[in-house]
Amino acid sequence: MTTDNKATNIQWHDGTVSRADRQRLLRQRGVVLWFTGLSGAGKSTVACLVEQMLLDRGRLAYRLDGDNVRHGLNKNLGFTAADRQENIRRVGEVARLFADAGVVVLASFVSPYRADRDAVRALLPPGDFAEVYVKASLAAAERRDPKGLYKKARSGEIKHFTGIDDPYEPPERAEIVLDTEQLSPADAAARVLEHLERGGYLAA
Ligand code: ADX
Repeated sequence: MTTDNKATNIQWHDGTVSRADRQRLLRQRGVVLWFTGLSGAGKSTVACLVEQMLLDRGRLAYRLDGDNVRHGLNKNLGFTAADRQENIRRVGEVARLFADAGVVVLASFVSPYRADRDAVRALLPPGDFAEVYVKASLAAAERRDPKGLYKKARSGEIKHFTGIDDPYEPPERAEIVLDTEQLSPADAAARVLEHLERGGYLAA
């Protein structure tokens, strides 16, 4: 028994089926595409389109989305900096497992802190992670306000809302930048597909 609740005497166990075997089966390479941006910037919209486009090409993607994951795995977490950090840490680990399964992971999280996003990047081997900055000004996101949350944040009903009374740190080295005030959702999704094709993630 340990006193600090942490597991000891554990070892990684490899099976007989490798990541390479799974990737051959799926004809693709596992990768984590990490969509970050303000609420209402269009992360989920673009991720859904990419997922559909991949399915239409016979490829397997899976979306991990803040609003969904917070209903289950992360339902015990709120929006303090520490809770957001733990949210992103757990999702980063889940995303890593999915990438190891050979799946194209479309992770859409506000993930406002650069350090939290960089920690996910550091979890994955180079080439297994790409940051997708879904860029929209606060004014545009607030104009869209698809869930009515900016209105609530402005009235003080929601505290610590990203962009209003909580920070958002934009990426400094995102592999893909999608300005959703300039690009249609379909054009934005097409750019993500191009990234996958150019990077050799989708075999012929
Ligand atoms: S993160 O900051 O920890 O990455 P996450 O992406 O999981 O956030 O969840 C963000 C979603 O939760 C938003 O799209 C919005 O619908 C909702 N939400 C509720 N409260 C907040 C808040 N204080 N800040 C940002 N998003 C919030």
